[in-house]
Amino acid sequence: MAILKIARMGHPVLKGRAEDVADPTTSEVQKLISDMRETMADAGGVGLAAPQVHVPLRLVIFQIPATRLHQDPEEREEPVEQVLINPVIQPCSEDLEVGWEGCLSVPELRGAVPRHTRIHYQGLDEKGALIDREAYGFHARVVQHECDHLEGILYPMRMTNLTSLHYTSEMRFNAETFSVSEDS
Ligand code: NI
Repeated sequence: MAILKIARMGHPVLKGRAEDVADPTTSEVQKLISDMRETMADAGGVGLAAPQVHVPLRLVIFQIPATRLHQDPEEREEPVEQVLINPVIQPCSEDLEVGWEGCLSVPELRGAVPRHTRIHYQGLDEKGALIDREAYGFHARVVQHECDHLEGILYPMRMTNLTSLHYTSEMRFNAETFSVSEDS
């Protein structure tokens, strides 16, 4: 395993459309997944897309902390740790919610981003099996953020109010309006 270098905003690998993964089960893809897991853990992120480690493939990983899963007992979710390959996302409604995001490719910043509150997503897992599920809240937000990386889109490009773009070190001045957020 290896900790990979993370590309930052401005690098060409973050700007293009990533390519489909032809076969998730090859040793190259398995090594990439393993290295991405180690890199995400080292960086303290909740999500990572292959282009962020200079590999322009349609592959993302994410890990939703238990504390960020939906708390509504009617909609309680199992903890989510997911490799998602060649993903396809569809919003379940037009409803949008604004929430804070950070990105390992845009270090030290946080911004408020509108995202669909509920989505349906499909893709393949690391064994090539079909993933087909719904997500809401923070889980849905992370999936949308990661899949945007595969289209060359970073979260500041989704912001509708740039006055919310902050350095994390200055967020203490806005403590009442900021909740915890993580890089992805
Ligand atoms: Ni990101």
